[in-house]
Amino acid sequence: MSAAGPQHIVVMGVSGSGKTTVGALLAEALGWRFIEGDAFHPEANVAKMSAGQPLDDADRKPWLEALAAQIARDDAAGRSSVVGCSSLKRAYRDILRSGAPRVRFLHVHGDRDLLLERVSNRPDHFFPPALLDSQLATLEPLGPDEDGVVVDIALAAPAQVRSARAALGLD
Ligand SMILES: Nc1ncnc2c1ncn2[C@@H]1O[C@H](COP(=O)(O)OP(=O)(O)O)[C@@H](O)[C@H]1O
Ligand SMILES: [Mg+2]
Repeated sequence: MSAAGPQHIVVMGVSGSGKTTVGALLAEALGWRFIEGDAFHPEANVAKMSAGQPLDDADRKPWLEALAAQIARDDAAGRSSVVGCSSLKRAYRDILRSGAPRVRFLHVHGDRDLLLERVSNRPDHFFPPALLDSQLATLEPLGPDEDGVVVDIALAAPAQVRSARAALGLD
């Protein structure tokens, strides 16, 4: 797994699962850049989410393509990255995988009650907690053929990073 060349770890999971927290910490530990997926949403998507309306696949397409383009730019520059992006469906992950040869996933997941607590406590939340259930219904976990691992949200963030690094062969 120590093949030369960049790789990109997409931290996936529903809103409030800890993608930004764990992703930023993992990137710092690895010395890689962290890309905040939320920052790639078109204005129209942010407005929709603020109004409490779930995004549909047509809304998500330009967002995911913009993120794949960012992954492609980093890859072409020889830079590995950690990307925070919910990536709930396999089709979304397929778009992200189209950005570079080695796009892998870290799924932060766990108990619904804890997720609800986390999304409610998030300081910069623009995502109403009521949308959590629609996200959980949408979620397609990683398939056995997809390069990725799962970490439990119940772990403290540094422990999540240790667990993820070991599972991804990034120690
Ligand atoms: N492992 C963790 N343990 C405790 N609290 C956490 C953990 N990860 C994240 N949090 C807290 O949960 C909330 C949601 O985390 P955040 O990283 O913003 O999630 P996401 O980016 O997936 O929406 C934040 O208030 C964050 O500080
Ligand atoms: Mg986030």
